[in-house]
Amino acid sequence: MPAMPVPLLDVNAQNHPLEPELQAAFTQVLKHGRFIMGPEMEIFEKEIAAMVGVKHALSVSSGTDALLLALMALDIGPGDEVLCPAFTFFATAGAVSRLGATPVFTDICPISFNMDVNDARKKITAKTKVIIPVHLFGQCADMDAILALAKEKGLRVLEDAAQSIGAKYKGRDSGTMGDFGIYSFFPSKNLGGFGDGGMLVTNDDDLAEFAKVLRVHGSKPKYYHHYVGGNFRMDTLQCALLSVKVKRYAQYTKERQRNAAHYAAELSKLPGSESKLVLPGAEAHNTHIWNQFTLRVLDGQRDSLRDHLVSKQIGCDIYYPVTLDQQQCFASLPPSSRVGCEISHRMAGEVLSIPIYGELSEAQRNEVIAAIGEWLA
Ligand SMILES: Cc1ncc(COP(=O)(O)O)c(C=O)c1O
Repeated sequence: MPAMPVPLLDVNAQNHPLEPELQAAFTQVLKHGRFIMGPEMEIFEKEIAAMVGVKHALSVSSGTDALLLALMALDIGPGDEVLCPAFTFFATAGAVSRLGATPVFTDICPISFNMDVNDARKKITAKTKVIIPVHLFGQCADMDAILALAKEKGLRVLEDAAQSIGAKYKGRDSGTMGDFGIYSFFPSKNLGGFGDGGMLVTNDDDLAEFAKVLRVHGSKPKYYHHYVGGNFRMDTLQCALLSVKVKRYAQYTKERQRNAAHYAAELSKLPGSESKLVLPGAEAHNTHIWNQFTLRVLDGQRDSLRDHLVSKQIGCDIYYPVTLDQQQCFASLPPSSRVGCEISHRMAGEVLSIPIYGELSEAQRNEVIAAIGEWLA
């Protein structure tokens, strides 16, 4: 079989078949002209709320802004500490820092890549206000333990479900178990938009109401400001376009799950795979939605596998090469907020994500598997 390039992600493969419906959605918004908080915004929010089973869903300008808005609604600021994993995308901790609070980094579990709750417990101080479990790569963190810890210590829980909309933990949807949850519609996410967008969800009426006010500069009624909020709105157009994709979301998830099952079955059969790779898996109580399929490459060989895949025109990437406790911008944080993240450091040196998007053909998956087999041999 001739080698074919396999991109890490192909947004066009998912979006282009929807062109007539997307065009119709665009035309509808163009015609009514209500570009800010138009009718499609509320429709999309209701669709997401129904899909994940939550009382309130507020569309916002990005997943990052959803985190910021949630922390603002929880009144987080200077002097407060917020626990988050060291191994995640920057926004999780960036939002904390932007409010003048201190991110305190916890280590992770090397199997799920999610927060090590025992480590989180050790890092709680009198200043700790919030714990942010991140449901990384598409599967949930250990929420029973996190919710129990939060209850015991009087902490708020903000679930960063940017990568895991639709993932389930013991049958409950990611993002709906804590005080707040956030999703991202960045184009590489499983529900990928046409630009930036995000969603803040909660079952708490008061928090939802406060977040709604903060989303529009803290104004209620219009031009009367009891609080300083921001402009965190998501465009009507973006909501209208994403509504077209929500209807297909279950199918998108099935396709990713099929791809992950194929990889898991075939990669584990490759000679050398057991000693050189650790394949990702879903914990028994989790429904994984596979935003990323992330291998661990042992013995310092990760970059060698990456170079091999690149030479075969197979897309791959490192999420994430530098843990947050080691980022330059956090070098001035108190040392106590940056200790004990050794597993995260090891993961940053071992992880490599390979193509998992739903539209990958079987032939493309086989190319990826063959290239990894070649490298292992
Ligand atoms: C774990 C995590 N948190 C937060 C974000 C921020 O989302 P956005 O890119 O929509 O701002 C992302 C996405 O990139 C993410 O992966």
